[in-house]
Amino acid sequence: MDEKIVQLAPMLGLIDAPFMNAIAKVGGFEEIFAPYMLADERSMPKPQVLARRFSGISKSVNLVPQLLSNNADAFVAMANILNDLGYPKVNWNMGCPIKFVVSKNRGAALLRDLENLERLFDSTIGRLKAELSVKIRIGFSSPDEFPAIIEVFNKFKLNELIVHARTAEQQYDGEPYRKAFIESAGNSLNPIVYNGDIACAADANISLPNLKGYMIGRGAIVNPYIGLQIKNLPINNAMPFRQFVADIAEWYANHSASSCLSRQKELWKYFSQAFENPTGVFDRLKSIDNSELFKSIVDKIFDNYKLMI
Ligand SMILES: Cc1cc2nc3c(=O)[nH]c(=O)nc-3n(C[C@H](O)[C@H](O)[C@H](O)COP(=O)(O)O)c2cc1C
Repeated sequence: MDEKIVQLAPMLGLIDAPFMNAIAKVGGFEEIFAPYMLADERSMPKPQVLARRFSGISKSVNLVPQLLSNNADAFVAMANILNDLGYPKVNWNMGCPIKFVVSKNRGAALLRDLENLERLFDSTIGRLKAELSVKIRIGFSSPDEFPAIIEVFNKFKLNELIVHARTAEQQYDGEPYRKAFIESAGNSLNPIVYNGDIACAADANISLPNLKGYMIGRGAIVNPYIGLQIKNLPINNAMPFRQFVADIAEWYANHSASSCLSRQKELWKYFSQAFENPTGVFDRLKSIDNSELFKSIVDKIFDNYKLMI
């Protein structure tokens, strides 16, 4: 696998239609993963409701929907509806570490009982119309769990196994276990995708024969050109960062005035890191609650602070 693909990570509450649409215009990402939706037998959405969920996302976005589930029937039913709606591939979230998710035996909790995981896949795989991509953690408590996790997935044919190289117990803190990933990922019979703290093109330097590519989350918000840079493609013709940010702001202004500022502030926690003085930049925006003022401060930031990307 010589040409590595680059995927945009799902990030609930941060990355939604406007960011996806803008980064698709920039380019460099083969696939964009949507934040998780619950697949639960008791609340199966109608196809029209599911279709509406993605209605703001531009056709140029190669979207991979993601489901959170611990139930084979619910997963199959929802994944097949998504396939009927035109999505050839669906991702299963087996990495979410959040307490209220794990306490319901969903997300990364599924990695704690590998026999149950195997049973779940046994009753899922043969009934799926879509290709199956799975996103996991390197382990629940320790990266030592990784080899046994890979063995289970080796019994099934997946489109890919995406590995966030932190344990679930680490949540989003601390360093990813990059070395432990490299030591064992080569044993995966399924194509493998590395995820965790890819912040610049030089970080995307893992050499494994079965490595399909990289998934990037926070690093792509700070630097939306990272996909192009990893592929050594020129960024001069891509939409400039100022316009990228304005594109997103305009979408929020036109579509969802109520959450407009709160969503943009969440993004600015990361956009600010693209400037020389991130804390200074974010401090100027964090307590503003007026859209016009927010817009004018953003203009001043671009006029006065040095961009580092
Ligand atoms: C605010 C936030 C929301 C996230 N939402 C999801 C999600 O919906 N599904 C998922 O699989 N991972 C989710 N993640 C994890 C990311 O997809 C990714 O695995 C993680 O941020 C590590 O990659 P990075 O270091 O490149 O950011 C989320 C992470 C953050 C910080």
